[in-house]
Amino acid sequence: PEDVGIKAIEFVFPKQYVDQTELEKYDGIDAGKYTIGLGQKQMGFCSELEDINSLCLTAFNRLVDRFSLKYEDIGRVDVGTETIVDKSKSVKSVLMSLFEKSGNFNVEGLDTTNACYGGTAALFNAVSWVESSLWDGRLAVVVAGDIAVYAKGNARPTGGAGAVAMLIGSNAPLVFERHLRGTYMSHVYDFYKPDLTSEYPVVDGPLSIKCYFKALDNCYRVYREHTRDPDFTLNKFDAFCFHSPFCKLVQKSFARLILNDFIRCGQKNLYYPGLEDFRNVTLDLVFSDKKEDKIQSKKTEDKFLEYSKNTFKIKTEPSLELASRIGNMYTASVYSCLISYLSSKSAKELAGKRIGLFSYGSGLASTMYSIRVKDCAELGKLVENCRCIRERLDTRKKLAPEEFEAVMDQREKSLHRVPFHSGRSTSELFPEIVKIEYPGEYEKELWQIDDK
Ligand code: ACO
Repeated sequence: PEDVGIKAIEFVFPKQYVDQTELEKYDGIDAGKYTIGLGQKQMGFCSELEDINSLCLTAFNRLVDRFSLKYEDIGRVDVGTETIVDKSKSVKSVLMSLFEKSGNFNVEGLDTTNACYGGTAALFNAVSWVESSLWDGRLAVVVAGDIAVYAKGNARPTGGAGAVAMLIGSNAPLVFERHLRGTYMSHVYDFYKPDLTSEYPVVDGPLSIKCYFKALDNCYRVYREHTRDPDFTLNKFDAFCFHSPFCKLVQKSFARLILNDFIRCGQKNLYYPGLEDFRNVTLDLVFSDKKEDKIQSKKTEDKFLEYSKNTFKIKTEPSLELASRIGNMYTASVYSCLISYLSSKSAKELAGKRIGLFSYGSGLASTMYSIRVKDCAELGKLVENCRCIRERLDTRKKLAPEEFEAVMDQREKSLHRVPFHSGRSTSELFPEIVKIEYPGEYEKELWQIDDK
């Protein structure tokens, strides 16, 4: 098949959010830490009425509706998530309830899990199927979603929630560049969820950031090698989307890719005016615990942030609209960035552009890959839908930090609790269409949301 890639895309997020400036005040910390220090404006969150099944069902259902797809035309569904509600039954198997009426049960694919990377692994599985000898000409759908919640403390403002659904097939407007990938995986405990009775991860924040940078450096090196272009630099991308735990990390990562280019150019770094004093810096500086290295590393980071400011504004800042207003959505995060970027341009402006993507999941798994935007009839509809997704952000409801905390407390109480009935009204969700009931004594009620 020719031009395998993303043919359509849909995204769902919670109807309620909390404002990060208000959260700073409520948490009693210095103004600016969440908004300037982390680069976050708002954070979306789900009440106990929603779980990963309801989010993924809704994303899938909306994709089918909005792009007038037929269930019998779908031959594969892959799901990426780290939000577990059942240790055996997959989210994919729940999605099969949507196929019931069509009579199509010949649908391959299941769930893939590794922190924020599962969505990318699911995507690669779907792409491999379309490119394989097993492909029967039908379409694949990839759903990636998570509810990202942290215990009270430093990490809490970096939560969020959302789910993406992507239609994968041939002759797509967003074409994956074959042979161009750089992967880095290693065993590390930067963020993990060993307590199966809690939704919250155990996280070593500073270590997770170092791991993210290390993964970024290595993926970029391997990706570049695969291009076989000795002069390859970030200039060869028109746009770059990152996994976004918080937006400031994305800005630093963009600057770090330029630092990678600068270091690799060696003597040629004459091309980087104003950076002469940094000729001897190494990528390892940021990983060092020595005091003098830390000082030099911070100086380097600040300099490259300043140096890359204008390019960042063009290539990456437009990708951060959903991430800055919803927060980290784990597996869906990098795809929310892709949607934001696409929504910021017209189809005409996008045609021919090359977009780099970096997907990171703690633990850790990471890949850098790229997409080329192809001018074709489906591009207009895809871009138009991205714009609708972005506009839906303004229809959400702001809740006070106290209410956000109460919802988090309620989630803690209701998690894995059976039987459970929420006293909360479903009118607080986007207008619902399907009620999902869990069987037997597991009476938790969940609602599928839709704003049709
Ligand atoms: N005004 C402006 N900036 C401020 C202010 C203020 N009043 N106060 C602090 N800041 C800045 C700090 O200088 C710092 O910026 P810098 O790193 O550029 O120097 C930034 O705000 C954050 O402050 P820290 O003190 O470093 O924050 P803290 O350690 O409390 O928590 C962290 C941040 C580690 C990201 C935490 O929220 C966390 O653990 N989050 C979850 C882990 C995570 O997202 N990791 C990323 C990759 S893994 C993944 O995707 C899950």
